[in-house]
Amino acid sequence: MKTRELGKAKVKVSAIGLGCQPFIGNYGPVEESTAISIIHRAIDLGITLFDTAGTYGRGQNEEWVGKALKGKRDKVVLESKFGNLRGQPGEGGRLYDGRPEYVPVACEESLKRLQTEIIDIYYLHRVDPEVPIEDTVGAMARLVEAGKVRHLGLSEAGPETLRRASKVHPITALQSEYSVWVRDYEKDTIPACRELGIGFVAYYAMGRGFLSGKLRTLDGLEPTDTRRRVPRLQEENIGYNLGLLDRLKEVADDNGCTLAQLALAWILHQGDDLVPIPGMTEMAYLEENIVAPDVELSADDLARIDGIFPLDGGAKGPRYGGDRDDKNR
Ligand SMILES: NC(=O)c1ccc[n+]([C@@H]2O[C@H](COP(=O)([O-])OP(=O)(O)OC[C@H]3O[C@@H](n4cnc5c(N)ncnc54)[C@H](OP(=O)(O)O)[C@@H]3O)[C@@H](O)[C@H]2O)c1
Repeated sequence: MKTRELGKAKVKVSAIGLGCQPFIGNYGPVEESTAISIIHRAIDLGITLFDTAGTYGRGQNEEWVGKALKGKRDKVVLESKFGNLRGQPGEGGRLYDGRPEYVPVACEESLKRLQTEIIDIYYLHRVDPEVPIEDTVGAMARLVEAGKVRHLGLSEAGPETLRRASKVHPITALQSEYSVWVRDYEKDTIPACRELGIGFVAYYAMGRGFLSGKLRTLDGLEPTDTRRRVPRLQEENIGYNLGLLDRLKEVADDNGCTLAQLALAWILHQGDDLVPIPGMTEMAYLEENIVAPDVELSADDLARIDGIFPLDGGAKGPRYGGDRDDKNR
């Protein structure tokens, strides 16, 4: 497995990581034993970056990851996050919590669930609009001093926030959505990361499964599957977006790879500071995705992909429904 380095600290990680969130069953039920087998197989295949968060499954995801990593903790770079309470609002309906007094509390809870003494990269999951970023990152820096956390990250933070945060403590990684059909951050956020020496960990690298080409209809998904609410997958948009995907498939075919491998390879070709963390609950998908770092795309391939999913436009429909304003804050 090829490796990459994140941030000025040059944290060495596998070129693709494993996003563990789907083990909570947000796309359909998953057995604990399946989750653990996939994590173990991922380690065997050379994946060293594992991503979870305190909010996933209200702590259950961290517990499962902790169990799976027992006896294997030193083989991996473990990342977790705090401060996103959208799934379980806090006191007074609070949806985000970046208060300095909460930071060590959240970290202790995560350490306990993960059965580890230190988290390698600890992220603020969402910027709290009510707390200056300097205060939150100051409290996170104290976790580094206390030996609870090795490196700091932010998730869905904008360029100005990254600049302010970096003045308090080096930020090793930004974790935000990035894929061939969500490219907005190329305009200002990825350049800001490069200016500041911050690595970019790309979530929803597989477009929640859509970019693999295997999700062609919402029929058959569990009623609770969160993809039922994704605007780009709704009836008025999905047909158009599948048409784009069919064109992308031609590029994949010409390279002898699958759409899923192409989706990951495209991200890896955008710079050696990017690391996608696809999630999967099917072992066969893990075996398929692991090959993506070996797919070599030519300038002509990249230009063809750019023509299908240009920086501005491309997919039909917004990323999210409703009035979510917690992205790139
Ligand atoms: N920082 C943040 O705010 C944030 C937000 C969301 C997610 N994340 C992180 O990012 C990770 C990735 O997100 P995600 O897993 O929801 O989205 P994703 O990686 O875009 O997509 C995951 C879905 O793709 C499917 N898939 C993966 N490889 C496939 C293949 N080769 N063929 C067909 N289908 C394939 C999986 O199917 P199966 O389940 O059937 O295997 C799964 O349903 C999460 O696990 C989490 O750690 C972070």
